[in-house]
Amino acid sequence: MNNLSRRGFIEKGTIATAALGAFSNTLIAGNEMKSTVKVGIVGTGNRGTSHLTNLLTIPGAEIVAVCDLDRSKTEHAAGLCEKAGRSRPKIWCKDETTFREMLNEEKLDCVIIATYWDSHTPIASHAMKNGIYPGIEVPAALTVDHTWQLIEMSEKTGIPCMMLENWSFRQDNLALLNMKRLGMFGEIVHCHCAHSHDCIDHWFFDQKTGEQKWPAAYLLKYNRDQYPTHSVGPIISWMDINRGDIFTEIYSTASASKGINAYFKRKFGNDHPNANLNYQQGDIVTSVLKTKMGKTLVINYDLQLPRPYSNRWLLQGTLGVYDEEKGSLYLEDKSPEYHQWETWKPYEQKYNHKWWNADLSAQSHGGTDVVMLTQFIDAVKSKGPTPIDVYDSAVMTAIVELSGVSIEKNAPVPFPDFTKGKWETNKPYFAIDMV
Ligand SMILES: NC(=O)c1ccc[n+]([C@@H]2O[C@H](COP(=O)([O-])OP(=O)(O)OC[C@H]3O[C@@H](n4cnc5c(N)ncnc54)[C@H](O)[C@@H]3O)[C@@H](O)[C@H]2O)c1
Repeated sequence: MNNLSRRGFIEKGTIATAALGAFSNTLIAGNEMKSTVKVGIVGTGNRGTSHLTNLLTIPGAEIVAVCDLDRSKTEHAAGLCEKAGRSRPKIWCKDETTFREMLNEEKLDCVIIATYWDSHTPIASHAMKNGIYPGIEVPAALTVDHTWQLIEMSEKTGIPCMMLENWSFRQDNLALLNMKRLGMFGEIVHCHCAHSHDCIDHWFFDQKTGEQKWPAAYLLKYNRDQYPTHSVGPIISWMDINRGDIFTEIYSTASASKGINAYFKRKFGNDHPNANLNYQQGDIVTSVLKTKMGKTLVINYDLQLPRPYSNRWLLQGTLGVYDEEKGSLYLEDKSPEYHQWETWKPYEQKYNHKWWNADLSAQSHGGTDVVMLTQFIDAVKSKGPTPIDVYDSAVMTAIVELSGVSIEKNAPVPFPDFTKGKWETNKPYFAIDMV
């Protein structure tokens, strides 16, 4: 897998030279592939620990430093490294600004940032200032202002900045990207996606006590698409966003907020302190985005109602349609029966992306996280561009604040051009494989 992904980097690098003006020559020309890189992790909670466990399986990724507000979490992380037969990483644990000391003093090549949402941009900016590649958990920023800060710092320092949007690396989504690039769906006209995932019973609140965890504060304060990146991640490549097309506006609307109160009353009774709070966050947010070339996209935020997990990805073009939830597709003049669905799985195998050449199903998120981290680490080893660049990270991230503004105004709001016009000439870049 590693050799293949390196080959992938070389192909990507060639395209990236044309596509990424800001990083092209300094980073790609004459780059030597390091065999090992020094990795730091800020935030060793749930997600940071999962990244650490995956990094321990990736050759050449040396975890040398870990930082958290909670010493027991850093100790646990360091213990996992030792248990895997690696050196014990240095622990940085004092307060919420200790990451600065770690980034100043450790000679890191990259840092994984898996902290609370509001600290992602300051940590990533400080990393870039120190010449360290940031791999930032989702969303990379909470405001459009912070998004621009990441872009400006990345352009100024020449250090690529990647949001770790794992669903862009899923096997089905990458196979679909191959098919889209082969023209099998014709011209893409419309997409739909959702993050339908009941997170009230484990991520926002403690499962046993119902106590608020840190993300719950956002449900009390904001009404917006709080978590758009998992759903929109793969879509931006299917729609050629930042590379031949661009979002021009977003119009969002939210349903009433019923799910959280109903959950607390059902599970903990009417007297639980969280049962009667006034949550600002509507249960379902629907955003409609338009592109310069006339495509449309619908995104649903759906994290507060009881339901099975789904992303409801759908792609529709002049020659066919793919429906992830149905596990089906229809291709005009190719599908065996006119206007009848056929099964997706054989296509996933036939158009399998080169990054998925091993059975990774036992790994976290079905292997997707390892595929993503391997590509990120390979980029760091080569001092080359990251598979997801700062502009694509910005587009996914900006939806958080913009959807809130649109809901409040009850009107469409313009979508910034983070590429500053380069989208017109940028060539496809992410996960180049069959085309
Ligand atoms: N991609 C995915 O599938 C996925 C899944 C879960 C969470 N996430 C993302 O991962 C991030 C972390 O979420 P989590 O569920 O792991 O939360 P968590 O609460 O389990 O972990 C966050 C950790 O960050 C630490 N922290 C916060 N601020 C810090 C600072 N300034 N310096 C050092 N440490 C700091 C906290 O002490 C905590 O241990 C979030 O951005 C979340 O959206 C992504």
